[in-house]
Amino acid sequence: MPTPPLHAARERALHAVPRPRRRTMILALLLLACASPAGGVAAQSTVRAGTAIPPEGVGAVASRRGMVVSVSDIASDIGASVLARGGNAVDAAVATAFALAVTHPSAGNIGGGGFMVVRMANGEATTFDFREKAPLSATPTMMLDPDGSIAYARTDSGWLAPGVPGTVRGMELAHRKLGKLPWRDVVLPAAQLARRGFPLSRALAEELNRELKTTFAPFPASVATYGRAGGQPWRAGDRLRLPDLARSLRAIADSGADAFYTGWIADSIAEQMRAHGGAITRRDLAEYQAVERAPLRGAYLGHEIVAMGPPSSGGVVLIETLNQLEALTAERFARTSSDWLHLRIEAARRAYLDRARYLGDPDFGAVPVERLTSRAYADSLARSIDPDRASSSVTLGGALVAPTEPTETTHYSVVDAAGNAVAVTYTLEGGYGSGVVVRGAGFLLNNEMGDFNKKPGYTSTRGDIGTPPNVIAPGKRMLSSMTPTIVARNGELLLVTGSPGGRTIPNTVIDVVLGVVAFRLPLRAAVDAPRVHHQWLPDEVRYEEGAIPADARAELEGMGHVLRGTPTRSQGDAHSIWYDAKTRTSYGVNDRRSPDSKASAPTK
Ligand code: DON
Repeated sequence: MPTPPLHAARERALHAVPRPRRRTMILALLLLACASPAGGVAAQSTVRAGTAIPPEGVGAVASRRGMVVSVSDIASDIGASVLARGGNAVDAAVATAFALAVTHPSAGNIGGGGFMVVRMANGEATTFDFREKAPLSATPTMMLDPDGSIAYARTDSGWLAPGVPGTVRGMELAHRKLGKLPWRDVVLPAAQLARRGFPLSRALAEELNRELKTTFAPFPASVATYGRAGGQPWRAGDRLRLPDLARSLRAIADSGADAFYTGWIADSIAEQMRAHGGAITRRDLAEYQAVERAPLRGAYLGHEIVAMGPPSSGGVVLIETLNQLEALTAERFARTSSDWLHLRIEAARRAYLDRARYLGDPDFGAVPVERLTSRAYADSLARSIDPDRASSSVTLGGALVAPTEPTETTHYSVVDAAGNAVAVTYTLEGGYGSGVVVRGAGFLLNNEMGDFNKKPGYTSTRGDIGTPPNVIAPGKRMLSSMTPTIVARNGELLLVTGSPGGRTIPNTVIDVVLGVVAFRLPLRAAVDAPRVHHQWLPDEVRYEEGAIPADARAELEGMGHVLRGTPTRSQGDAHSIWYDAKTRTSYGVNDRRSPDSKASAPTK
């Protein structure tokens, strides 16, 4: 007799299990959120006085006029001001992207790329892929030294590290399809900000001082752009003015993305690439296209998931993991129990293995997305999980080892007054990308070429993957982990989220979605809660302080899991919005792991 599908049996099991521990934990987290200094709603709320805050909205900024939550207070305010001027969520998202290119130079960009997921209030959804592409002269072995070893210096920084940037075309495409305000009105605020300058936060001042001695040091234009006049170190409160970036943004505001891809900015990039042995040409820039793609859709415990498909692996890893957890009825266990953590880790292990095996640019080969995100496949994976023993990643997938990755990207979330929602994650890849600022144009180029599988057919204990779907080819997009995500319930918007963090990104997003959907935590508690990470290989569990209590740790180790000795300092940065469709109220929750982050609502 065939085994019944696991997800068909899950309902019975779910309702048979009492949840007192879970309720106690939710209450404790709720109290914590209320008590926290940044947790008050009232001070920043634009909801009428006297309106009851639903428990899920505790610790958030509330507004009926929309919300922008990002890593940068100044960029969030610019996005919110676009909403105040009658812009919709896409207008605000575009304005925020350009503002982050000014105020958050480690990841905000016009010289990088990323993904935008949009869900309109009527339930229609779409995505925009503005991931970088390999230049047309790229070859599968271009990141190898003559002796066949991987030239990390070339993938990490300098003139061969950048892919053809996608952000400006992507923003233009999204705006042309769905924006409401004139293009100029959404780009100009960033141009003005770059020209006027802005006061450095303590965190950014310290970061720039570090980068000037390291990443920027080999590149005079980068030092000139981000150094303090006279060469003294930056201090908090000093004003950073970016006149060249202002000129570029002004040109983009006036002439659209063509200023970047075929105008003087393209000339500057191509000329400096040629002079320094880089690969990107005028033709690469002129031929770059952003792509509108159908979103990836999934369902978890009755909630609708709208996510990014390839060339990002984010949506597949997210949905494949959630499907397994649903098939296992894992949510009956408490969030910090070893039972839960074991299943959570095993599900991620399997989804990340499939990421390495199958995922890459869909324009360059078939990617089995439907199969990987199907219920039947999740059931078969769930059956392969031993409830009492950790699996071996090597046995599951062969001897492939995944790399350690830098952790600088940025995610922001936007909702407008009508309930249209936008999730954007974009990046330069490593912090400050390739370290190269284009002289005269004032912006940093990415180092996204390092996201390709650099040595075809070769997987190493250092962590390189050599599987075919993500090997370098001319014009191909490198595989990403970015996971901008929107969750709906009963046809109504519920959650907008996403995160930076390289390969940890899908796990961070999974933890936020699980917090809200499986554990019914207020979003503040779900974002604050410590996170876990397992990426198939290396076969180890990484975790933030407090994610795994001592008793669970001992039990997990008894099952054969390898837990890293010390907790990760911080995993991800999930600036998110919870939406109450009944009252059309957005609740913005910044991730307090980032000191300059903010949830901003339009003030009028
Ligand atoms: O696309 C990716 O998955 C990586 N380039 C993202 C890098 C990243 O998240 C670094 N940041 N925090």
